[in-house]
Amino acid sequence: MIKLPGLIDPHVHLREPGATHKEDWDSGTSAALAGGVTMVLAMPNTKPPIFDLPTLDLVLAAAHTKARCDYAQFLGAGPDNALIAASLASRSAGLKMYLDSTFGELRLDDMTLWQEHFKRWPKHLPIVAHSESRSMAAVILMAAIYDRPVHIAHISLKEEILLIKAAKERGIKVTCEVCPHHLFLSRDDIPGISQGHPGRGEVRPRLATREDVAALWENLEVIDCFATDHAPHTLAEKDGDNPPPGFPGLETILPLLLTAVSSGRLTLDDLILRMMTNPRKIFHLPEQPETWVEVDEKSSYEIHAAEMHSRCGWTPFEGWQVKGRVQRVVLRGKEAFLDGKILVNPGFGHNIRV
Ligand code: DOR
Ligand code: ZN
Repeated sequence: MIKLPGLIDPHVHLREPGATHKEDWDSGTSAALAGGVTMVLAMPNTKPPIFDLPTLDLVLAAAHTKARCDYAQFLGAGPDNALIAASLASRSAGLKMYLDSTFGELRLDDMTLWQEHFKRWPKHLPIVAHSESRSMAAVILMAAIYDRPVHIAHISLKEEILLIKAAKERGIKVTCEVCPHHLFLSRDDIPGISQGHPGRGEVRPRLATREDVAALWENLEVIDCFATDHAPHTLAEKDGDNPPPGFPGLETILPLLLTAVSSGRLTLDDLILRMMTNPRKIFHLPEQPETWVEVDEKSSYEIHAAEMHSRCGWTPFEGWQVKGRVQRVVLRGKEAFLDGKILVNPGFGHNIRV
């Protein structure tokens, strides 16, 4: 049995308000606890998106009554909310800027709109950018110009990790996260995931080449955080016309990474650094007292969506053999998860920004 600290996932989509048939604060935070995650930072591309006081109050009211693990909520950067977002900064996990194709309405194409946010968002609080390839280069340049930190969400390409490495070497304040699906899957896996339904392989950023995946592993020291980008959509939606992009990930991140530890690709210290120490530092998150995760590192089993708590009902890792099972989670002194069962009620989770 190994004991890990409570893990932090700085990138989850909980779908409430607006799409609770995919996930809500109850099912999503239950999935988090089952995956050994005791704190989630929730993304703002809900319906409506979270970008001002009424929408922030709306989502925090749902979280307050329903969350089972601790949390904070991101604000979305819109075309004309730079002032109002900055005024709400201390109540949020950070500012999320969508600069590339994604799910939902929040997207900023014009770089002068990015600048408004870079100018106004408090320097000590994080800006997270969904920006791929050349727009990532542009946002790193903007961070350098405004001399403030930027965190790049879900990097997936060799060109991205090498550029971030070069930027860090020159003292630019850039950090980044990588998702398990970009570490363990490549484009070559899409037919296996799809099973004849191409929508199941859709995710943004797209699955990359094997060379890209190898570059992420080779440059592990450049990766600050592991984050799921837990993006639940139902199988019916994934298999329908116009399938939305996104993979669930809260209940598979730890077993996948522990399997990599067991095969010697990663150390436990590598994992703890990227799933607790670094996210806490980058996002200025408080310690969670009396909080830990007990894992049976010898338990070998197959991943099955049917056993999961997420409402989406599928996983791109269905049938994968993994080693390392979450057995017990204690959150702030209370047994929150034991042998497959959630033991804390909706509302037990704390907003760490109050
Ligand atoms: O695949 C994705 N799904 N990428 C995103 O950027 C958004 C996410 C979602 O919200 O479904
Ligand atoms: Zn996301």
